[in-house]
Amino acid sequence: MKRIKYSLCLMLLLTALISCQKSPDSKAEMNVQKEPFGKTPDGTEIELYTLTNYNGMKARIMTYGAILVSLKVPDRNGKLADITLGYDDLAGYIKNNPYFGATVGRYANRIAKGQFTLDGVEYQLAQNDGENHLHGGARGFDKVIWKGEPVKEGNTVGVKLTYLSKDGEEGYPGNLLCTVVYKLTNENTLTISYEATTDKATIINLTHHSYFNLAGQGNGDILNHELMINADKYTPVDKGLIPTGEIRSVKNTPMDFTTPHTIGSRIAEVEGGYDHNYILNKDPGVMGLVARVFEPTSGRVMEIYSTEPGVQFYSGNFLDGSITGKSGKVYRKYYGFCLEPQHFPDSPNEPQFPSVILNPGGKFKSESIYKFYTK
Ligand code: BGC
Repeated sequence: MKRIKYSLCLMLLLTALISCQKSPDSKAEMNVQKEPFGKTPDGTEIELYTLTNYNGMKARIMTYGAILVSLKVPDRNGKLADITLGYDDLAGYIKNNPYFGATVGRYANRIAKGQFTLDGVEYQLAQNDGENHLHGGARGFDKVIWKGEPVKEGNTVGVKLTYLSKDGEEGYPGNLLCTVVYKLTNENTLTISYEATTDKATIINLTHHSYFNLAGQGNGDILNHELMINADKYTPVDKGLIPTGEIRSVKNTPMDFTTPHTIGSRIAEVEGGYDHNYILNKDPGVMGLVARVFEPTSGRVMEIYSTEPGVQFYSGNFLDGSITGKSGKVYRKYYGFCLEPQHFPDSPNEPQFPSVILNPGGKFKSESIYKFYTK
């Protein structure tokens, strides 16, 4: 009898110890779930993949545009909030999406007049931003339908999205086979990896275009977020936001985020707000720090690492209150910021910029990591 009592006590003690080790929110199991997310006007079913980690952090990704639909991240009290702008349903994204959460390609950012020459051949791309080409054209990667499949590898859950962009799509040469993999870990990191191959020489520049608000989407503007960008230099632009070709130091200018500054502290001195490509202090192709952002009320910190040589910092200047997004929130000017790791804008016309050419037999590879913690 004594023995039974003793074993019972031991069991109770062990159970108590195990449950103590888990935080109150940690009931979540690491998993990936698939569900329907509506149909496009032509009747194609769109799937939504939800990645969940041990801390309850959740990333939802859909097969339309390989778009990150929401990203729920804990604050310093463990309370989750969705920190990306977007819509509650597919219809919102189809109707009017200024690239919320999108996978952008074939060429993220601008190409002057949509023109470039490769191996002596002149190409004319779609001109969808005045006379310039922006974010892959009229129907870029953010508007096409990707094939999704769940991924579970070691300590990560994810989704792999595949798309074949046909030769001539939006004016680009070559059949380009692309994959984008989103992966979530228990360390609250979201990794986005890109790969592509082609059967003709072409150009490529892929990025991720979430508008972040670390206080929670729709929860005011981002002017009090403290930002550090790991870049001593940037590429100045003309009126159409095309780089002039000059590489300029950020020193003693409102462009300098080498030490943390709130986004709002000097934004009035930058005509139109921030919408610039920074040249990262690291070797292209090597994974390194891009930026760190801290939001004081929630305590959330986001760090971005990437293999890309540049980052476009866009402070949500064109949001104007005309979009009502998730949970009925109205998105006003500066309500979200984008940090888009990428090659420099208009690289095909600036031979001194890192190359964006992909040849048959070669493989395009790029990876960016979004790491979250609180302080
Ligand atoms: C660009 C902005 C553009 C926005 C589109 C950003 O990547 O830098 O100029 O307006 O995307 O929503």
